[in-house]
Amino acid sequence: MKTRITEMLGIQHPIIQGGMHYVGFAELAAAVSNAGGLGIITGLTQRSPELLANEIRRCREMTDKPFGVNISFLPSVNPPDYAGYIKSIIDGGVKVVETAGNNPQKWLPMLKEAGVKVIHKCTSIRHSLKAQAIGCDAISVDGFECGGHPGEDDVPNFILLPRAADELEIPFVASGGMADGRSLVAALALGADGMNMGTRFMVTKEAPIHENVKQAVIAATELDTRLVMRPLRNTERVLKNDAVERLLEKERSLGANIKFEDIIEEVAGVYPRVMQHGDMDSGAWSCGMVAGLIHDIPTVKELIDRIMLEAETIISKRLTGMLG
Ligand SMILES: Cc1cc2nc3c(=O)[nH]c(=O)nc-3n(C[C@H](O)[C@H](O)[C@H](O)COP(=O)(O)O)c2cc1C
Repeated sequence: MKTRITEMLGIQHPIIQGGMHYVGFAELAAAVSNAGGLGIITGLTQRSPELLANEIRRCREMTDKPFGVNISFLPSVNPPDYAGYIKSIIDGGVKVVETAGNNPQKWLPMLKEAGVKVIHKCTSIRHSLKAQAIGCDAISVDGFECGGHPGEDDVPNFILLPRAADELEIPFVASGGMADGRSLVAALALGADGMNMGTRFMVTKEAPIHENVKQAVIAATELDTRLVMRPLRNTERVLKNDAVERLLEKERSLGANIKFEDIIEEVAGVYPRVMQHGDMDSGAWSCGMVAGLIHDIPTVKELIDRIMLEAETIISKRLTGMLG
């Protein structure tokens, strides 16, 4: 299958693995790239630019295919050394960056000069248009269903994707709620040039995370995610658990007066505890509604091959058959 995204990124299949904190290590990124998609290392999971440089080297030892790095510009008390991280990406010869959160404009000249393609993740049409205007190469359009930060507009992909198709000139991929060949064909039908998956890639053999996390996603249904930090305008879709219930109770009781410090116990330092130690109730961690479509733990290659076969079969048999 050839789309503007496969052509732009030099990949075989129009499938991207989104950056995931404490999940997107070199092992997962390399597995996705080796299977013909675009794997992405999560930059800020590496605690320094030097460690990111090392992770990029490790990934390159595991794959000779293109892979990317995610850099998230999210609100933070002590902002990370973004300049250092960008330098590690450029010096490491990485040719694709997925940016998320705030506007990446400040870093575009450096990245462009080094020939790096920038995919900016956006949850709204106005942010997508802004990203296009400042020179981003592609958009990852993240609908309300998505795991992680869905923004504050709450527009699901059935509306957001065709709106993006109507407004954007640069290519975009559908992100949020994508799990299988049906998702891919739907995304293409709505105007996208591919799809980005987070939660689905977490539940694969190569995802270097605790087995408890994979089992928790398999056990979950589409009803089991919650939106937290909405009063702080930093909404995150997470899997429900004891800590999340506690957090939501604080949000209800403190109302508009809530401050980040009030919920620090439920949201700070959670990812290593969950992803590495499997301590599932220790805080809020991102998970998409797509959990309801995830029932097994395939290898990344099995997953991607299955998606492509299913997508091609839907297009060539089911849809073509409907045309009589
Ligand atoms: C556990 C987890 C951690 C994530 N961490 C990040 C992150 O650090 N940076 C980022 O830009 N997106 C992050 N995301 C969002 C994903 O890159 C992707 O946009 C999202 O998962 C797509 O929705 P889906 O889960 O329905 O596939 C995370 C998602 C999950 C599930």
